[in-house]
Amino acid sequence: MRVLVVYNKDFSKVIYQRNPTKEIYSEKTVFRIKSALERAGHYVEVADGNMEIIDRLKVFFRRGKGIVFNLSYGIQGESRYSHIPSILEMLGVPYTGSTPEGHAVALDKALTKIAVQYYGIKTPDFMVFKSPEKLEDIKLPVIVKPRREALSLGVKVAKTKEELKKAVREITDIFGQEALVEKFIRGREFSVALIGNGKDLTALPVLEFDLGGNPEAIQTTFLKRHRPIRKICPAEIPENTAKKMQEISKRVFNILELRDYARVDLRMDESGEIYFLEINSQASLGETGSFIHSARAAGMDFDQTVIKILDAAVKRYQELWEEYDGFEQD
Ligand SMILES: Nc1ncnc2c1ncn2[C@@H]1O[C@H](COP(=O)(O)OP(=O)(O)OP(=O)(O)O)[C@@H](O)[C@H]1O
Ligand SMILES: [Mg+2]
Repeated sequence: MRVLVVYNKDFSKVIYQRNPTKEIYSEKTVFRIKSALERAGHYVEVADGNMEIIDRLKVFFRRGKGIVFNLSYGIQGESRYSHIPSILEMLGVPYTGSTPEGHAVALDKALTKIAVQYYGIKTPDFMVFKSPEKLEDIKLPVIVKPRREALSLGVKVAKTKEELKKAVREITDIFGQEALVEKFIRGREFSVALIGNGKDLTALPVLEFDLGGNPEAIQTTFLKRHRPIRKICPAEIPENTAKKMQEISKRVFNILELRDYARVDLRMDESGEIYFLEINSQASLGETGSFIHSARAAGMDFDQTVIKILDAAVKRYQELWEEYDGFEQD
């Protein structure tokens, strides 16, 4: 199979540079993925998902059928995850991962919460604010986060009215986004990695972030970037609790009609109630990230995980089947 890996490298190749995203795939991870695909016998090229991408796609796909392995977080803007998939959808090019619509909803934490609530999934109570006005009646403590960020950017716990106002102001000013104010869930934190689609959708073993038994602890940007919290996988929880978390995660994936892979973040309060926090439609495949950690606990090495994602995508495009040397994981 011919595979074009697309990610974002040069953020200046746009017409006007606004507020570039801080979410970036490291070159190291991109090249590990490229090598994994090559080791499985695929022909691989790497492309930068900037304004020159259409020309690059034209050249690549003129030479033969293939698929894009989409690692693009986008360059800027509130629909950034959707930019590359939108271009690919318009061009009719097969690609891994979620659709423009799936990515757009998943990146918007407020819309996602409204959607999953409609289907009866528990998520912390929340409100959305455009400015630090009218915050009077909110029950504290709360967690305040930008509507569309990742890596815990801008995330603050507010225990007083003053802290709440300051956090909302910071988010609206610095991130230029609405602030999501959410009930703080004291307890433990988990994540569930998902691979596949439809009846083949598989939840990997539940992973717990070791918050050291402190129910008030959260994962900050500093911890995520520089001192990743110890991960316990499979999490030390009763089997039925793990099953419940996996079921909730699969349901969210299906409600949002995501594709091929994703990662769900959950908190469990001190009474054992499970709350859905968010779903990452462009789950990081970084070596030290929780997705790859869970895959390892499921007995899959890095190469097998990458190929399983490719398999899931290829299965969705009948025109690619004859080009594909069997589905490695089947
Ligand atoms: N309602 C909540 N109650 C308690 N802690 C929370 C809550 N929401 C978020 N957190 C904490 O804040 C962190 C970041 O929140 P969240 O996962 O929603 O945002 P993110 O920045 O998109 O994360 P990621 O890096 O996974 O993309 C979580 O890992 C968790 O520790
Ligand atoms: Mg998260």
